[in-house]
This record gives sequence, structure tokens and C-alpha cells, in this order.
Amino acid sequence: MVGHTSHIYPFSDDAKEIARERCQHVLFTLLFGAEVLAPVALEHGGRVLDVGCGPGSWIEAVKSRYPATEATAVDYHPTYTPAPDSGITFTLGDVLEGLPFPDDHFDLVHHRAMILAIETDEWPRVIAELARVTKPGGWVQLTEAHLDIHARLGMTPRLRVWNEKVVRGTVLEIGADPDVAPKLAAHAAAAGLGGRVTRVAPAHLARSGAGEIGRLMAADFLAVIELLAPRIAGNDATPAQVMLWAESVLNEAEWHEVYFNFYATVAQKPGGGVVEGAAVGGS
Ligand SMILES: C[S@@+](CC[C@H](N)C(=O)[O-])C[C@H]1O[C@@H](n2cnc3c(N)ncnc32)[C@H](O)[C@@H]1O
Repeated sequence: MVGHTSHIYPFSDDAKEIARERCQHVLFTLLFGAEVLAPVALEHGGRVLDVGCGPGSWIEAVKSRYPATEATAVDYHPTYTPAPDSGITFTLGDVLEGLPFPDDHFDLVHHRAMILAIETDEWPRVIAELARVTKPGGWVQLTEAHLDIHARLGMTPRLRVWNEKVVRGTVLEIGADPDVAPKLAAHAAAAGLGGRVTRVAPAHLARSGAGEIGRLMAADFLAVIELLAPRIAGNDATPAQVMLWAESVLNEAEWHEVYFNFYATVAQKPGGGVVEGAAVGGS
């Protein structure tokens, strides 16, 4: 992979952000019902890699469910220190520069919530890099939120403005792709990965009436807006005014049953024998 240094990821790895990412892990797991969605047998071992691992929530869950695996986590910042007896290895590495692993090495490569870390045009190269380090017959698992608001009871003018200007507008301004989630399967296909299966899970944004998922979504919504408030405010408002706006949009979102769709795509590197059927439905 040719070196590349344009990093757009806007968040730090301070304690508040790490706490947000841990909550987001619970959200993803509740939405899809399991950490490992690819039909890969890990009971008797196998090499598993988590790319852009953040605080290591996913790799820790996988290692504790499948203790015989060789578990590796990589991030471009020192976001994670595995406990000495965890059996997990953390390595510094940058998916945009090329991962520090040989070709054809892992049985499962996981890449999740990286939407703000990858420029729109970089996705094909990143998925190709994930495919490179995956063994023939191994699997890549990609999970992202589609950053486009839907409202079961209809969009209001204010929700439309919020969606276009804040949700999608801010992501586009960063240089990222708000619509990458529904494109994951196409990116996987372009990287030569087969056996693609995609599952779409809607997540309501509501502090009450939508259970734990709704609460986690609402908390994440406010946390992300707070992080991006100076950027959203620009010259027209203050970050405090943006937060007041966000609170009132959240109330309106609850009344109109707003939800985001989350996508999980699994795809298999050709070769190494065929595995019948995937653990997730859809196409
Ligand atoms: C929103 S967090 C997601 C963490 C984790 N994947 C999860 O789902 O819990 C994004 C992570 O990607 C990391 N990251 C951003 N750009 C990266 C890059 N070019 N290479 C590797 N990691 C990167 C950040 O440091 C951060 O830990």
C-alpha cells in the first residue's frame, strides 16, 4: 500500500472519548446481537485482528468468547493497553500507511466505526489493505452507521435542516463519506472479496421509549455534537448555542421516531476452501 498521511479523524483519545467508544461498543453489540458476525470458526483458535481498535472493546470481547484465538489490535494512536494476562497484543499501525502485518495472515479482520477516519476516496484502498492481511478463506467484517436521518413519523423542516447541515454537512466538510455504510459491500467487492452478506439494523434516537439502544444513541448523539460543536458553530453561533439546538432537535427526534441505519457487511477472501452460509441475513 502506498504511503498516505492525510489524517482527517477529528477526535482525540482522551478519557471522555474512550468512554464514548466503550458505550458505542455496547450499542453495536446490542444492534447486531454478537461481536463476530462472519461465519468463521474460532472455537479452536485462529488469528483475529481489530483495525482502529480504540479502547479495545471489540477485541477484548472476542478474546474472552474465543480464548484460543491469537488476538491482535492495531490503532495509529496508543489508545489501548491490554492487561498483561489478557493474551491480546496491541501494535501501533496506520491503516492509511499500510498495516504492519504480512499478506494472508488473519482469519478475521474487523474494522468498525471508522467513518470519520477515512476520506471518501480512500475507502477502496483501505478495504484492499484489510483484504491483503486476510488469509485466503478468511473474513473481513465492516460495520458503520449510515449518517442520514430517517423519521418513522415523517421528517420535519427542522430535522431536514439538521440532517443536511449538521449530520451530513459536517461529515462532508471533514472530507468523510456519510453514505459509506450502504457502500461497504461494493467496496468489499471492488477489493476482490466474495461471499458478501450485509445486515441493516435501525437504531432509534430516543432517551425514552426505545430501550437501551435509544438511550445509548441519544447519549452518543449529544457526545458527538459536543465534540464537533466548535466546528458546527462556525462564525454564526457559539458551541453552547449548538448544544441547545441539539437538545431541542433530540426532543423533536424522539417525537418523530427518528432512527439511523447501521450496516454490518461480512466478506470472504477467495481461496482456502468454501464456508457455507453466513451468520447474518440480507444481501
Ligand atoms: C471511533 S473510534 C472506533 C474504535 C473501535 N473501532 C470501536 O468500534 O470501538 C476510531 C478509532 O480509529 C483510530 N484511527 C483513526 N485513524 C486511523 C488510522 N489511519 N489508522 C489506524 N487507526 C486509526 C482512532 O485512533 C480511533 O481509536
